[in-house]
Amino acid sequence: MKKCPVSTYCGGCQYQGLPYTEQLKKKQEESEKLLSSFCHVEKIIGMDDRDHYRNKVQMNFAYDEHRNIISGYYVASTHTIVPVEECGLCDEMISRIMSSVKKIIIRKRIPIYDERSARGCLRCVMIRSTNTGEYMVVLVSKTADFAHREEVVRDIIHFNPEVKTVVQNINSSRSSAVLGKRNIILYGKGYITDELCGLKFRISPSSFYQVNRRQTEILYRGAIKATGLNDSKILLDAYCGTGTIGLCAAGSAKKIIGVESNSSAVKDAKINMKINDIENAEFVCEDAGKYMEFLARNKTHIDVVIMDPPRKGADQRFMSSMVKMRPDRIVYVSCNQLTLKENLKFLSRYYEVTSIQPVDMFPYTSHVETIVLMSRM
Ligand SMILES: C[S@@+](CC[C@H](N)C(=O)[O-])C[C@H]1O[C@@H](n2cnc3c(N)ncnc32)[C@H](O)[C@@H]1O
Repeated sequence: MKKCPVSTYCGGCQYQGLPYTEQLKKKQEESEKLLSSFCHVEKIIGMDDRDHYRNKVQMNFAYDEHRNIISGYYVASTHTIVPVEECGLCDEMISRIMSSVKKIIIRKRIPIYDERSARGCLRCVMIRSTNTGEYMVVLVSKTADFAHREEVVRDIIHFNPEVKTVVQNINSSRSSAVLGKRNIILYGKGYITDELCGLKFRISPSSFYQVNRRQTEILYRGAIKATGLNDSKILLDAYCGTGTIGLCAAGSAKKIIGVESNSSAVKDAKINMKINDIENAEFVCEDAGKYMEFLARNKTHIDVVIMDPPRKGADQRFMSSMVKMRPDRIVYVSCNQLTLKENLKFLSRYYEVTSIQPVDMFPYTSHVETIVLMSRM
């Protein structure tokens, strides 16, 4: 990747400038340091063609001290924006569309949201892409009122024919959450469709979707192989997002049940099931811990659990109920080795950790994804 002019301020790419073999070496060492007390750590799976891997980008908007509109990323743990014109991690077309959207925002003099006074309109622009060449632009604003909205949308589509849908997301909170709950479709269908592991997945603005599609296929195949599924087994896909892992595994299982707390992701998962002609799946919108407790109370039989929690890991309610249900295998897909380690301290009292496989989903950063297989003792 070519040297990024803002890498020292931005902090997004902790390993910027390091040769890739060195990046992998550091990730391997870190994985071993944190996790080797549970089991041997396999060699990390790297990424061959690793520039521009991100299919989702969010740029925050603000005024600088001269009242010029700037857009970029927050410096880590702050609300100071580093202006970014082009990010080497992002899909190149996303960068081009982002810069075109910014020009339109400037030309139309759209009032930018000010965090201190909570006045103004536009907070952030999110762009997502798919491997089918579809792009989604999400304009995040403080209220539904958006001056010159029709003209902005018309120009976005006119200058960027790859954009298949434009959505306005309303986020009136003063928190650091990027998106609010309400979406207004301004153009197109309000979603885009990606292809992963031979299936189609519909992605809405608020649903989680893995940002590195090529490595996701490797991750999912590794996780599904670890399940040891066959057509007599029932799989629980916990923290399932839009149902991606479970639906990719559905052909090898008797039945899959997905649980996820984000209602828009569950809606996508149910549609994803239909568009892929999958009949042996069901999806539940619920807190995973609460749902696991319900299953344990009802003595529901589950053979295998795949759990893919957010960065904070799984809570005690989820884990205690899961071990009560005694599935044969648990496959833990983690995006944070610190919380993974904490969760494994509890789970390894009941399950033997039999394999740990790190996967590099986020080249140039210090983040590591990990697949852990546990078998009932
Ligand atoms: C790391 S993502 C994984 C999603 C999916 N497995 C995938 O690969 O796309 C974690 C998911 O957990 C969901 N989530 C967060 N907290 C949850 C909870 N308490 N109960 C259920 N789902 C939760 C998030 O909305 C998100 O979709």
